[in-house]
Amino acid sequence: MAKKTAAPSTVQAGYTAARILVVHGPNLNLLGSRETDTYGVSTLEDINAALESLAAELAVDLEAYQSNSEGEIVSKIQSARGRFGGILINAAAYTHTSVAVRDAVLAVSLPVVEVHLSNIYKREDFRHRSLLSDVVAGQVVGFGASSYLLGLRGLAELV
Ligand code: DQA
Repeated sequence: MAKKTAAPSTVQAGYTAARILVVHGPNLNLLGSRETDTYGVSTLEDINAALESLAAELAVDLEAYQSNSEGEIVSKIQSARGRFGGILINAAAYTHTSVAVRDAVLAVSLPVVEVHLSNIYKREDFRHRSLLSDVVAGQVVGFGASSYLLGLRGLAELV
């Protein structure tokens, strides 16, 4: 009689698929008071709280991180390898300028979803180019704070 073998488990020791890193880029710490006509009145704390409650519904864990510094964002993305199953990122102005953030996204080989509060394609020309758009799994733009929630729903399908 053939020996029964256990089905291969998708859950390995220390596997962190259900953990999602949320990265907020420069100036997003000022949300709520910064250019409210463009970015709305939700603060970063409001957005993180809404993400936490959606994460509970989707049965994923979140860690939210904000930095105004390109190098710190690169280091944080690098540190996600092996610790998180995916990354939700609003790289803010670095979206349009940072080869280093793009390279970090490529280096970690994790599903990444890019979000923006505003519709970057309806704004100044320099915002139309995202250096992340072709290396991320998907992009959500223009829905205000809901862009993050829609992005999290999409990313949760991938982790
Ligand atoms: C932003 C759009 C960027 O162009 C801008 O630099 C930001 C915020 C957004 O969420 O709409 O800081 O990423």
